[in-house]
Amino acid sequence: MHKDFINIEDITSMELNYLLEMVLVMKEAYKKRKLPDLLNKLTLTMLFLEPSLRTRMSFEVAMNALGGNGLYIKSGDIHLGKKEDIKDTAIVMGRLCDGIVIRSSKYKDIYDLSRYAQVPVINGMADDKNHPTQALCDIFTIYEREKRLRGVNLAFVGDTSDGFGVIGRDLMLISAKLGVNFYCASPEKYHVEESYLDLVDGYAKISGSEIKVTYEPEEAVVNADYLTCDAITWQGFEDETEDRLHTFIPKYQVTGELLKKAPPHCRFLHCLPARRGEEVTAEVIDGKQSIVYDQAENRLYTELALCFAFIGKEDIWLNLDQNSLGPYAEKLINLYRLIHG
Ligand code: CP
Repeated sequence: MHKDFINIEDITSMELNYLLEMVLVMKEAYKKRKLPDLLNKLTLTMLFLEPSLRTRMSFEVAMNALGGNGLYIKSGDIHLGKKEDIKDTAIVMGRLCDGIVIRSSKYKDIYDLSRYAQVPVINGMADDKNHPTQALCDIFTIYEREKRLRGVNLAFVGDTSDGFGVIGRDLMLISAKLGVNFYCASPEKYHVEESYLDLVDGYAKISGSEIKVTYEPEEAVVNADYLTCDAITWQGFEDETEDRLHTFIPKYQVTGELLKKAPPHCRFLHCLPARRGEEVTAEVIDGKQSIVYDQAENRLYTELALCFAFIGKEDIWLNLDQNSLGPYAEKLINLYRLIHG
C-alpha cells in the first residue's frame, strides 16, 4: 500500500520527524555530490495546473539527482477538465509513471488524483487549502538552524482564513504537530476559524506547542525567533485585490518597524514569490535578518527526501550495485524503512 503526501494532517509527528532527518542527510549528500541513485529510472509526473518556479524546479532537479526523471506537464497540455475527467487521467498516469506531484487551484483535484492513481501522489500546492511541501521545507529551515523544534517561536502575520490562508494554516498545523510555538496575527475578516483551532490545539496538547492567535501583529512577533508572512494578493483574485490591500496594509504588512518589535536574533522567512511593498517591504526581505533564499534552496533538499520517501521502492535499490551506492545510502534506507513502518 503506497502512501501519499497531500495533507500534513495525514502524516504523523513521528513520520514528519523522520522526514526532517532525511532532508538533513539528503542535503549533506547532495552538497558532497554523493547522492545514491535510489530512484534509478523511476519517473515522477509533475502535473502543474498552476504556475510554479520553486516547486517545479526543485522536484525536477531532485528526481534527476536521485537517478530518476521528472516529466513536466502543464495545464492545457492534456485533456483534463475538457475531454477527460480526473478519474481516467489519474488511472492512466498511474499506469505510466511511479509517482505524481500535482499543483492545482483546487484541493479536490489533488484528493481525487490520489484516490484513483495507483501510485503515490504529492501535493505541490492547492491554492484553496494547503502547501505541505513548503510547510515541511520551512520547518526544516528552522530545524537545521536551531537543531531543535520544541520551544522555538514562529510568528505569522497575514491571512489564516479557510480557503485563502494556505501558508499560515499549514505552518500552524505542522508547528502544532512538532512542538513549535506558533503565534499569528490576522485581520478579523481573514482570521482562522474556531474549528481549525480546535484541530491544531489537539495536536498542540500532545506536542507541547503553544498556539496563539491575535489581531495584533506586535503581540505575535514580540518573542519571535522566526517571522513569516504570505502574499496578500495573487492571480485569479483580481476582483478582491483592492479590498485585500486595504484590509492588510499597513497594519498586517511586515515592515522594518514591525521586525524591530521582535528580538534582534529573529529571522525573516518567506516562501516566495514575494510582492515587495505588499505583504512585506523591500527593507525586510532584502535585509540582514532575511533568510528567504536559504529557505528557497531548501526546497530542493526537502523534495529529495519526499521523492525518496514516497516514490522509492525497495526492489529498485536492492537491484543496484550495492558497492556503488556510497556512504549515505544506508542512513537513507533506514529512514525510509522507519517512515514505512
Ligand atoms: N513557494 C512556492 O511554492 O513557489 P512556486 O510557486 O514558485 O513553486
